[in-house]
Amino acid sequence: MAPSCEIGVIGLGVMGRNLLLNMADHGHVVAGFDRNPDQVKFLGRESGGNEAVKGATDVRSFAALLKRPRKVLLLVPAGDAVDSVIREILLHVAEGDLLIDAGNSHFRDTERRARELAPSGIRYLGVGVSGGEEGARHGASIMPGGPRDAYESVKGVLEDAAARADGEVCIAYLGPGSAGHYVKMVHNGIEYGLMQLIAETYDLMKRGLGLASGELAPVYDRWNRGEISAFLVESAARVLGRLDERTGRPLVDLILDTAEQKGTGTWTSQDAMDLHVPVPTIDAAVAMRNLSGLKALRVEAERALAAPQRTFRGDRERFVERIGGALLGAMILTYAQGMAQLGKASQVYGYGLSLADVARIWQGGCIIRSALLKGIRKAYERKADLPSLLLDPGLGRELESRQEELRAVVQTAAGMSIPVPAMMASLAYLDGLRSGRLPANLVQAQRDQFGAHTYERVDQAGKFHTRW
Ligand code: 6PG
Repeated sequence: MAPSCEIGVIGLGVMGRNLLLNMADHGHVVAGFDRNPDQVKFLGRESGGNEAVKGATDVRSFAALLKRPRKVLLLVPAGDAVDSVIREILLHVAEGDLLIDAGNSHFRDTERRARELAPSGIRYLGVGVSGGEEGARHGASIMPGGPRDAYESVKGVLEDAAARADGEVCIAYLGPGSAGHYVKMVHNGIEYGLMQLIAETYDLMKRGLGLASGELAPVYDRWNRGEISAFLVESAARVLGRLDERTGRPLVDLILDTAEQKGTGTWTSQDAMDLHVPVPTIDAAVAMRNLSGLKALRVEAERALAAPQRTFRGDRERFVERIGGALLGAMILTYAQGMAQLGKASQVYGYGLSLADVARIWQGGCIIRSALLKGIRKAYERKADLPSLLLDPGLGRELESRQEELRAVVQTAAGMSIPVPAMMASLAYLDGLRSGRLPANLVQAQRDQFGAHTYERVDQAGKFHTRW
């Protein structure tokens, strides 16, 4: 068969299959490869017999379907699977061909793979794709990074697969090397932060205020229709409203309280630590996923350790609204941390990121899309090198109007022994950032006292050491 396909996808799992079908919907002739014949058959069925969608179960015939220079999109689980797929496809591609890793690969792996492929003249793009099954099928937020000319050669087809928000396409060339995968990693770090914040609001209303899961769904639904409009808030409303078919009880109440992870949030925290960028809300979210994994220990500690069981005495409805305000404030603080990390990473790794573009392409299709991103984008359009989103007059004012709610909610939660570490971390980030003077002077003094590490003074230049 003559090569007729514009692009091929390796890995016909949920993301690969749906992205392929999405591209075919836009008139592209595409090929899919999966070693599992059932996946290839399923692709054929899902395409409704569309002639423009071809499938293969061996790499050689898959590569033979692709027009030159070949363009191959990899959608396989991050890690060793990507390397083994690259080894396999390398036997069937040639100089000038393009490999595009569209999975959640670690940005350092993306750099290594691009380096390893360079001598053979194979071009490599690391592309973040967000939006889950729905996004892949009907429009995702797409975060491409790598050589610009390589991106230009697939721009058309990727743009077609991207979501639209306010009439604009949710894709932008982000920068060289691992820029795309770095931005996707931080997207996921923010995702962890927002999900933990939402989980804390749920816990407060359920355990603290005694609301049932069914009563909670309308609260998130209402929030989502107002200022806190966000995909993850909408998702919470949908999840909380679902009843289990078997028992008739809210399904969420029957789900084990141990949160899993594939690692992107943890990587965000790890790299933020390396870059010395504070992202405490994301750190707290990662820590809480880890704490949730200690189920047996938590059950034992619940029996062993007494905690004050204070009940809420106040106006429940009013408090629910305050929780909403606190969530909005903490969400702004979470985005601010993630954007600050991107700003620093851009300098250190030479990505040359436009944070306005990042905010723009997150406005549609992705998991962290929310009404807030409009203001965030505007903030960076006004001032591309804004050192912190909190210094933007619009977002700063919004935050000022929410901070008392955040403070009140954190205090009430602490009083009721309900853990809200992401809310607390968000508030401490705000209070820390606007403390012109922090107690780090004492830390410095002690480092010098026990380790002669020296310190700087506020009244004289130079390094000093005291014999304490
Ligand atoms: C997205 C999501 C997607 C996936 C996360 C889940 O943007 O579409 O972020 O990439 O849902 O990887 O991550 P965890 O398994 O680590 O929660």
